Amino acid sequence: MTQAHIIVFGNEKGGSGKSTTAMHTAIALLRLGYTVGTIDLDARQGTLTRYMKNRFDYMRSAQKPILSPAHMAINKSRAETVSEQQDEERDFFMMALEELGSAADFIVVDTPGTDNFLSRLAHSYADTLVTPMNDSFIDLDLLARIDPNSHDILSPSVYSSMVNAQRDTKLERDGTRMDWIVVRNRLAHIEANNKKIIGELLEKISRLAGFRTVPGFGERVVFKELFLKGLTLMDLKDESKDNLTLSEIAARQEVRQLITAIGPERLKGPVKPRHAMKAASEQTLDPAQSPDQEKIQNAQS
Ligand SMILES: Nc1ncnc2c1ncn2[C@@H]1O[C@H](COP(=O)(O)OP(=O)(O)OP(=O)(O)O)[C@@H](O)[C@H]1O
Ligand SMILES: [Mg+2]
Repeated sequence: MTQAHIIVFGNEKGGSGKSTTAMHTAIALLRLGYTVGTIDLDARQGTLTRYMKNRFDYMRSAQKPILSPAHMAINKSRAETVSEQQDEERDFFMMALEELGSAADFIVVDTPGTDNFLSRLAHSYADTLVTPMNDSFIDLDLLARIDPNSHDILSPSVYSSMVNAQRDTKLERDGTRMDWIVVRNRLAHIEANNKKIIGELLEKISRLAGFRTVPGFGERVVFKELFLKGLTLMDLKDESKDNLTLSEIAARQEVRQLITAIGPERLKGPVKPRHAMKAASEQTLDPAQSPDQEKIQNAQS
C-alpha cells in the first residue's frame, strides 16, 4: 500500500467547492516542497482534470514551467454487472494510488458531488477528509438532522453516516484513523447572524459526527477567474501579479489556514529548504501574510 498521505475532498452536496479547494491544496503543498499527485474521481464532470488542462495550456502559452502535480482521472466502469463495475473501479483506484503514491508525499483526491461506489471507496482510504460546505441549512442537513425550533442536533445524516461507515472500514482494514475536517466555503460578507448560527450548529454537529472545523473561505470572484487559467491563489505572485488585492491576500490566508489544519509538516516532515526560502521571500513581500506563515511553522513543528 502507498506511503503517501491521502487527502480526499468530499461532500455529497454538489457545488460546495471540492474541486476548487482540492486544486488549491495540491498546489499549496507542491509549493511547500512536497511531491503531490492528484486523482479526479469525478471524471464525467472532470472539473479537476479541466483545471489541470487549463494549467498546462497556461504553461504552454507562457512558455515556462509552473509547479504541477502528476494527475490521473478515473472514469466510471462500463462493465456489465454492478460487481464487475465495482471490481474494475477498485482496481483502477488502487492502481492510481500505487502509481502516484510511489513518488508522492501527498495524494489529493477529488470526488463527485453524489454518492457512488468510487466516492465511498476513496473515503475509506482518506487519511484526511476535507469537506467544504456552503453556509446553508441545506448543506448542514447532509451532516445532521436539526430540530427546526430548538436547533438541537437530532441525529447524524446521510453524508456523516457514510463517512463514519468508511472511517470504520479504514480502521478495520489498515488500523489507521481518518482526520475529518469541515471547511465552510463561500462565506458571505454580510448575513452575520446566519453565519453565526451556522457556525454554532456546526460546532455542535462536530462533536456528534467526529470532525473538526477550520476557518473557511469567503465568497470571492477570483476563484472563478483562476480556474480558466489553471492557476491558484498561491501562483499569483509568480504569474505577473506584483500587487495582490486585499481580497486575494485574504483568500491566500484562508488557503494557508486549511493547509495548517491538514498539517503537512507533522505528517511528512519539514518543507524543503528551497521552498522554505521561497515562502520566506513571499512573506517579506507580503507582510499581511507573515503571522499566518508563522502559524504554519509553529503548528507543524
Ligand atoms: N470561495 C468561493 N468563492 C466564489 N466562488 C467559488 C468559491 N469556491 C468555489 N467557487 C465556485 O463555485 C463553483 C463550484 O465549485 P467547485 O466546482 O469547486 O465545487 P464542487 O464541490 O467540486 O462541485 P461538484 O459537486 O459539482 O463537483 C465553481 O464555479 C467555483 O469557481
Ligand atoms: Mg467538483
